Amino acid sequence: MPHPDRNLHSVNLPADWSPASWRARAAAQQPVYEDATELAAVQQELRALPPLVTSWEIFALKKQLAEAQEGKRFLLQGGDCAENFAECTADVISNRLKVLLQMSLVLVHGLRLPVVRVGRFAGQYAKPRSADGETRDGVTLPAYRGDIVNAPAFDAVSRRPDPRRMVKAHARSAMTMNFVRSLIDGGFADLHHPEYWDLGWVSHSPLADDYHRMVGSIGDAVRFMETLSGAEVYNLNRVDFYTSHEALLLPYEEAQTRQVPRQWGWFNLSTHLPWIGMRTAALDGAHVEYFRGIRNPVGLKIGPSVTPDQLLRLVDALSPDDEPGRLTLIHRMGAANIAEKLPPLLEALRRDGRRVLWVCDPMHGNTETTGNGYKTRRFGNIRSELEQAFELHAAAGTRLGGVHLELTGEDVTECTGGARDLTETDLERAYRSTVDPRLNYEQALETAMLIVRKQAQIAAPV
Ligand code: PEP
Ligand code: CO
Repeated sequence: MPHPDRNLHSVNLPADWSPASWRARAAAQQPVYEDATELAAVQQELRALPPLVTSWEIFALKKQLAEAQEGKRFLLQGGDCAENFAECTADVISNRLKVLLQMSLVLVHGLRLPVVRVGRFAGQYAKPRSADGETRDGVTLPAYRGDIVNAPAFDAVSRRPDPRRMVKAHARSAMTMNFVRSLIDGGFADLHHPEYWDLGWVSHSPLADDYHRMVGSIGDAVRFMETLSGAEVYNLNRVDFYTSHEALLLPYEEAQTRQVPRQWGWFNLSTHLPWIGMRTAALDGAHVEYFRGIRNPVGLKIGPSVTPDQLLRLVDALSPDDEPGRLTLIHRMGAANIAEKLPPLLEALRRDGRRVLWVCDPMHGNTETTGNGYKTRRFGNIRSELEQAFELHAAAGTRLGGVHLELTGEDVTECTGGARDLTETDLERAYRSTVDPRLNYEQALETAMLIVRKQAQIAAPV
């Protein structure tokens, strides 16, 4: 029986679903908790805590994503590969926000479209791993699965999956969200003052002149509009910012799944936009089962092994009503694979008339290990995958509506290349990630600039 949804669309609520129905399916990438009673007590505690987001914010984001699907907005989704408890600090949070605001400024100005800003933060604490265990010198311990599960140090106590960490992750997420909200409400994102977002590097960066010229022309445009209207342009004082994380650790996500007054269905109230990682996207797996029942907009990562038929079935499972804004497909094929793997998927969905938002993650298909043992990504490959994505979508008659990036506001050296042409030796200087290599602020801004250039080239081919 379809229920009228006063916000957007008619959706069928799955009758055979509950926040715990994933338990009947195979759940990949879950830790083994020793004490089921302790786990259940933690879940009970989490259920009673206030939610981190509200259903009306979730619907507001869904509406923006629906507009992005129609080509009226561009999605910028970015942040750390993994947050950790120690880096829940004012500097790390505000620097990351500064980079995302600077990038969105470049995108708004260059694409002439409003940007949907979604952070990979306030909950990005769980990580999929290639093996359940890790062996060093003949000793095998559980793999580090992110701070929400265990700690990275290689000893039995640190690596024991501890359910109490979920409560700490919830608290850290709330603190992060609270600080971001206060900064934005306090005027930090005010377009009249883009100098608040400077990170110190701007005076010596090869990109500084381009960026400052653009900020200057935006300032002129704002002043011009204000002169014309005789009033301040108030809606430039603040922007919307939404949150997202990989909803990997299902006992945590289940405990955050709630009903709210005057709305149909269930919401994951720990984040606005949860996504399914590539390694947990099995059609008959626990993650797809969990995601199909929540009303949030959802993301799905797709890698080079997905076939058009599998993708169509995943889209049917996750977005059976073709609801606007519901499904974002994040492809991460790798620069070497995208030209071969992406077009058949685009064609299958286009032929079927399915409504999705296509987003490119140019990071996760381009990870490699250097001769000196660092996990890195070459900026040239990231750039190549992104540029190819724009071209392949244009050729298929679909639209690339956003990017998904791993970045930080800190001055790290984790990815090679970029305007400063970082080398493998530079990686030794400031490699800080315990998981995937991130773009530093300069490489992130350069990425925003290359998106603008590429989009302009696609729109007006020479
Ligand atoms: C990630 O986004 O950090 C991640 C693990 O990506 P993927 O699921 O695409 O491998
Ligand atoms: Co990652």
